[in-house]
Parts: sequence; structure tokens; C-alpha cells
Amino acid sequence: MDLNFWINIVYIIAATLFIFGLKMMSKPDSARQGNLISAIGMALAIGATLLSKGLTFEWIIAGGIVGTVLGIIFAYAVTMTQMPEMVALLNGFGGLASLLVAWSAYHFKPETDLFTTVATFLSVLIGGVTFTGSVVAWGKLNGVFPSKSILFQGQKLLNSGILLLLIVGGYFYCIHPAVNYPVFLGIIILSLLLGVTSVIPIGGADMPVVISLLNSYSGLAACASGFVILNNILIVAGTLVGASGVILTQIMCKAMNRSLANVLFSGFGSVQKKSKSEVKGEAKAISPEDAYLILEAARSVVITPGYGLAVAQAQHAVRELGEQLEKNGAEVRYAIHPVAGRMPGHMNVLLAEANVPYDQLFEMDSINPTMNSVDVCIVIGANDTVNPAALNDKTSPIYGMPIIETFKAKTVFVIKRSMASGFAGVENELFYYENTRMIFGDAKDVVQKLVAEFKAK
Ligand code: TAP
Repeated sequence: MDLNFWINIVYIIAATLFIFGLKMMSKPDSARQGNLISAIGMALAIGATLLSKGLTFEWIIAGGIVGTVLGIIFAYAVTMTQMPEMVALLNGFGGLASLLVAWSAYHFKPETDLFTTVATFLSVLIGGVTFTGSVVAWGKLNGVFPSKSILFQGQKLLNSGILLLLIVGGYFYCIHPAVNYPVFLGIIILSLLLGVTSVIPIGGADMPVVISLLNSYSGLAACASGFVILNNILIVAGTLVGASGVILTQIMCKAMNRSLANVLFSGFGSVQKKSKSEVKGEAKAISPEDAYLILEAARSVVITPGYGLAVAQAQHAVRELGEQLEKNGAEVRYAIHPVAGRMPGHMNVLLAEANVPYDQLFEMDSINPTMNSVDVCIVIGANDTVNPAALNDKTSPIYGMPIIETFKAKTVFVIKRSMASGFAGVENELFYYENTRMIFGDAKDVVQKLVAEFKAK
């Protein structure tokens, strides 16, 4: 049996490890091992690929060392809340790598069969869009670029024009690849431009959705470049990334009850949207000291975290409160909405960082049916994800978005600094419900005060 056979066997093992790794990453308690298993798969794939060709290793070893050192530095330097930025950059590099592979393959062999030419075109197109789109997404998230959506007249026309030029250019390139190098260069430039013009209209708060979409693009670009250089594992890995990115994008859009087109083209968050129905009644405030008296008697408590918890960095204080409540005999659970916060898994990551036990974290669909039997629900820095208008106000911009049904609990405490609205810019009728009490203040301060009350007991 020749070397090629064994290399393909290693590729199959690597692909299997990728699939198991991905599966394990979908649960917080197995995510670390999933990451490790996928990394082992990638190491096997790289090793096998290096053995497969008659390569000169000096440059490869140099590149490997530089990449490994940079990877380790980034992994240690980046904080959990900077993860979306980091992922955006890595997607961008993936896209750029695919573009460069296709470009160099073109130089190596300009005249080739139609299938490879089309794959080269797609690799450059998707890779270019992914690279500059991801750089813009990264800049919007870390404040290098303005995070609000940049809208101007004729924007959709401009994007459609660039796309049309790319299709026409792609056609001419594909029928005569060897003589059309200027067209090929034009495709590279227009792809890079399209990445910028298609991401600038999207607001910073929608970047997580865009990043997971770009993640999927980077996979598709890698898959296309796998066809260009005929590498099986690149095709498989690219397809896995492409598919998982699409699934994550779809999960996020569904959890916000928005279509992908609405995220990409509406400039959501650039204008304040109002529902037609006015919220009636008066919100009732309560002090942490009085809230403690109710919590002390509670036997079942659900903590519902949101973006404000991340802003206040209250996760450690929240874990302490959970422990105090348990010591007092209450059952404590955490209700996690899929888009609470500003990135996928934001709340899971924060609570895991504070060592909240995984088995206390419950997804929206499993905790909602039990809400009627909950004594106290403590909403900490969450707003849109607990707004009942999403269920009962057809004129609300968030109507149809699934929510954590905190209003069903016997008592609801909402910890936030003011009556201000959340990301969607709509009033929250939960604050005016009979069973709701507002505890105004910074989430960390308030939770620490509640913990202090328990400790002083
Ligand atoms: P939001 O609706 O954004 O509300 C967060 C609340 O936290 C605000 O009302 C704010 O009120 C409060 N807050 C801010 N700083 C605080 C602090 N230091 N202490 C206490 N409270 C503080 O949050 P959510 O319920 O998590 O909903 C997330 C929103 O983001 C949804 O609309 C979702 O569609 C959107 N979104 C999420 C994602 C992902 S993947 N997670 C992606 C795109 C969009 P005060 O100013 O009064 O304190």
C-alpha cells in the first residue's frame, strides 16, 4: 500500500476527531475536551499533509514556529469578552489564506480545467469578502471603527453593482483563465471591497451574527481552495466550518426572531424603534435589604442574567449569591437565553468563568415550563430577553422573539441602573407588573449587598 493510502486513513481519523470535537463543543462541560480533540485532529491533518508532498521544510518550520508563538500569545492575552473580536480576526485570516492559496495556484498553473478554475474563482471571491468583512467586524467590536451602522443612499445599489461586476468578471476569467490575469486581479480587488461595503451597514450589536456568518464563509473558502489544490482534509474541514457557521447563524437569528436579511440589510439599532402600545402603571422599587427578606423565605430561585451582568462584571458576586441561597435551603437555577448578552454563549462563558456549576445552567426551553413554580426570579442586567411584549404586543419590534418567562414567577426582582431600554430600544412591560420589584443600581453592587445581607444573618 502506498503512502497516499495511509495519508487518507489519517485524514479520515482527523475528520472523525473534528466531528466528535464539534459535538462536544456544544455542551459547556465537554467543550474543553472537544477543543483539544479537534486540535489533535488538526495536528494529525497537518502532519499527514506535510508528509504527502515533496516539500522543502525550512519555510514550513519557520512559518509553523511564528504561527504557534503568535497563537499562544493571543490565546493568553485575549479576555473572554474579547472572544468575538478574536474569532473575527481568525475568520479573516482563514479567508485571506484561501485567497492566497488560490492566487498562488493560479500562478503555478494558470490554464487548467473548468472545475478548478471555478473553484479558484470562488476561493478568491469568498476568501476576499471574508477577510475584509472580518477586519471591519473586528474593528467595530473593539472600537477602532464606529460601531453604529453606516448607511448611505444607493448603498444596496453599490453592493449589487460590485456583485454583478464580480459575476461578469468571474465568467470571463473562467472561460479564458490564462489570458485574463488583469480580470483575476480585478476580482481580488472587488472581493476585498465587497467585504467592506457589505459589513459597514451592520450595527456593532449585530456583529456576533455577522461573525458567525463570516465564519461559515471562511469554511466555504477553505473548501473551495481544497478543491483547487485537491486536498481532501481541507475540503472536509472547510465544509464542517461552513455548515456549523450557518447553523450558529440560524440559531441566533431564530432566537432574536429576525431573518438573516433583516440583520444584514436593516441597520437595526441605528434608529430607535417604538411599539404602538404604551406601557401603563408604575414601577415599584425595593431596597436590597427588603429584597433579602423575600429571598430568605424563597425555596426556588431562578437567576436570569443578561448583558448588564457582563457590563458590571458581576459573575463572581452572582455565584456567591447562588451559594448563599443554596446554603439557606433554596434550589438555585440559572436561566440562559440564547442571545442574552452580545455574543453566542456570552452568559455561559461568564458564569463558567466564575465556576457556577454547569448543572445549574438551564436553557430557555427547559426552564420556561417550570417558571410557574418559582418563588423568586432575579433578573440581572437583562431586558429584551425577558420582555413579555415579545409574546403579547404585535406592534413591538421584538414581537415573536422567544423570551425567558420570568413574569410567571411569584416574585420578580429586576436589577438594573435605571428604567432605560435594552438593545432593541423598546420599553419593558415586565417592570410594571404587579409581581415585579425593581432594585436600582449597578448589578455587582446590588448583588454584593444581597450577599452581605445573607452573611450578616
Ligand atoms: P439588553 O436588552 O441589551 O439589556 C441590558 C440591560 O442591562 C440594559 O437595559 C441596562 O439597563 C442593563 N445594564 C447595563 N449595564 C448595567 C450595569 N452595570 N448594572 C446593571 N444593569 C446594567 O440585554 P439582554 O436581555 O441580554 O438582551 C440582549 C440583546 O442583544 C437582545 O436584544 C439580543 O437580540 C441582542 N443581541 C444579542 C446577540 C447575542 S449572540 N448574544 C447578538 C446580537 C444582538 P440600565 O442602563 O438601566 O442599567
